[in-house]
Amino acid sequence: MNDITLSAATTFGLEAVVKRELIDLGYNDITVSDGSVEFKANIAAIPKTNINLRCADRIYLVLSKFKAETFEELYQGVKAIEWSDYIPKDGKFIITGKSIKSTLSSVPSCQSVSEKAVIDSMKKKYKIDRFSKSGNEYKIQIALLKDTVTVSLDTTGDSLHKRGYRERQLAAPLKETLAAALIELSFWKKDRLFLDPTCGSGTIAIEAAMIARNIPPGVSRSFSSDKWDFIDKVLWKNEKKEAMSNIDYNFTPDVYASDIDPKAIEIAKHNAYLAGVDDCIRFESKSFKEVTLKGDYGVCICNPPYAERMGELKEVEELYRNMGELFRNNPTWSFYTITSHEGFEKLYGKKADKKRKLFNGNVKVDYYQYYGTRPPKKI
Ligand SMILES: C[S@@+](CC[C@H](N)C(=O)[O-])C[C@H]1O[C@@H](n2cnc3c(N)ncnc32)[C@H](O)[C@@H]1O
Repeated sequence: MNDITLSAATTFGLEAVVKRELIDLGYNDITVSDGSVEFKANIAAIPKTNINLRCADRIYLVLSKFKAETFEELYQGVKAIEWSDYIPKDGKFIITGKSIKSTLSSVPSCQSVSEKAVIDSMKKKYKIDRFSKSGNEYKIQIALLKDTVTVSLDTTGDSLHKRGYRERQLAAPLKETLAAALIELSFWKKDRLFLDPTCGSGTIAIEAAMIARNIPPGVSRSFSSDKWDFIDKVLWKNEKKEAMSNIDYNFTPDVYASDIDPKAIEIAKHNAYLAGVDDCIRFESKSFKEVTLKGDYGVCICNPPYAERMGELKEVEELYRNMGELFRNNPTWSFYTITSHEGFEKLYGKKADKKRKLFNGNVKVDYYQYYGTRPPKKI
């Protein structure tokens, strides 16, 4: 299987970041649409992208695309796929569905018609009438958009934000994929100071340290497709080995993380230990007012309370004012934050150099970006 189409599902607003990650991994036949980045690849890309992508939510193997305005067309289109090439006799296949702006709008009906089509295709090949579904899981997605059906297999399983290190968390944690994207969208490079002064369970600082050390986000977890027979186990082994060989545990970035809540710091330290970066993050329990900047040309990326999700409005607004005071007086530092508070720039005291619309879960947020002066060029 050397000519396959994969699709990386992303949070709305992060498509371009995932496209850049795919280009960095060596893929170039890429098509971007809302919440999805499709790319041509070979079968080894399934382990490679699952293990290495920091900002995508999951990777789908696209099996077929066809038009369907009737259930008969849907049935025939799904049945035409040679399912036994992918799913073994005992495979536990589950059909998920979605329908947007399509004639076939009833998702449960689309699911049951598709399930019948899969079973009929497999019956023909395996010459049995009943399927035990006692084996490995195969999640089949039937997605209709404007009467075009895309049939895919979810190769990921638990969403890619579940790296495995965030054993403990507090209220309102940021998804690891979004935390990594905030970093990718910033000017931070691993030789620059990094600070998250409202670190909570440590997600942004941990992701920064993992990027600095080149620790692949998916290296310590499993995926649905690592048990599938049609993907040679050697490919998983090789991709894991290659990803591991790029880790640089000798590099220690300068990462600072603090939070007013001592419990948060305890949790963040534990998570950093699990992620293999506890030795390069200096955690401290303190309020933002006590934060001092250690050097020049640092980058602060944070996810403070928005008042909508936690904290009191008055305190939150005071925090935003304090942020403006500190960073406006330290012009070599770059400051980045997400919040849903529409008055952020006014409270901070300056218009952002750039603003980007993102979603933190279901909450619409803006990513405010204030650029510090450029560090001098190294000779
Ligand atoms: C939205 S949470 C951050 C979640 C974090 N990004 C994560 O993934 O777990 C906001 C954090 O800001 C902290 N915080 C609130 N006010 C603060 C202040 N004045 N100084 C420092 N930290 C503060 C809270 O204790 C909370 O942990």
